[in-house]
Amino acid sequence: MIRVIVTEHYQELSQKAAQLLAAQLQKKPDSVIGFATGSTPIGMYKELINSYNRQEISFDKMSTFNLDEYVGLTKDHPQSYYHFMQEQLFSHINVRLENIQFPPGIFTDADRACQSYEDAMKAAGGVDLQILGIGVNGHIGFNEPDQQFTLYTHIVELAQKTIESNARFFGSEDEVPRRAITMGIKSIMDARSILLLASDRNKAEAVQQIFSGKVEPQIPATVLQLHPDVTLVVDREAASLLNEEFQTGGVCVW
Ligand code: GLP
Repeated sequence: MIRVIVTEHYQELSQKAAQLLAAQLQKKPDSVIGFATGSTPIGMYKELINSYNRQEISFDKMSTFNLDEYVGLTKDHPQSYYHFMQEQLFSHINVRLENIQFPPGIFTDADRACQSYEDAMKAAGGVDLQILGIGVNGHIGFNEPDQQFTLYTHIVELAQKTIESNARFFGSEDEVPRRAITMGIKSIMDARSILLLASDRNKAEAVQQIFSGKVEPQIPATVLQLHPDVTLVVDREAASLLNEEFQTGGVCVW
């Protein structure tokens, strides 16, 4: 089931998403949260930091697993996703360092690195709430358009489109790593609930495709149609190609 919440603008989207995450932690303080990078969740992370500073929320018992990491970047590399999460959220709240799990960007044995990440998620009892962004090509995590779905954590060659759109975070396109390690489609779908955020007109096609009625690995996000508990928080621009029933704002169920 997909629940759609359309907001007026990015700020409202960020507030709404932060409220949903806070509600999860209220219900279950030791929740396992799957976090995402990219520019879209930054506003939500700011809202969470503000709530923490106002002492409305504690992250003391939360465990985290991030979706993906660039291969070849160390944790302290300014463009690594680990560094991003520290900067945007983790270093500002009371999450415990030992409860933060990340797919490694540096490893000697790829199969082992991927398997250990899957094992760690299982040992933690699985992800309760997975945050997702969406790529302009419909990718989730770094599951790029492909002939088939790859189920578990794996190494992926990044699509040219992804390299181009992520170049804005690096000095130039040449500096964007060509490979990443990412949770697979089943690792993501195993989360008990999923919260996908999309903002801006350039995500409208990708968001529309989630409701195509077809599940196809060429548009990885279409698989979300099969999940029992997905909430999509999208601003008006990102929702602009959805049917009219979704345009009215508020909550719609698909
Ligand atoms: C990256 C991340 C994805 C993210 C996507 C969208 O490629 N691996 O997890 O959803 O970008 O990013 P943005 O929110 O910046 O558009």
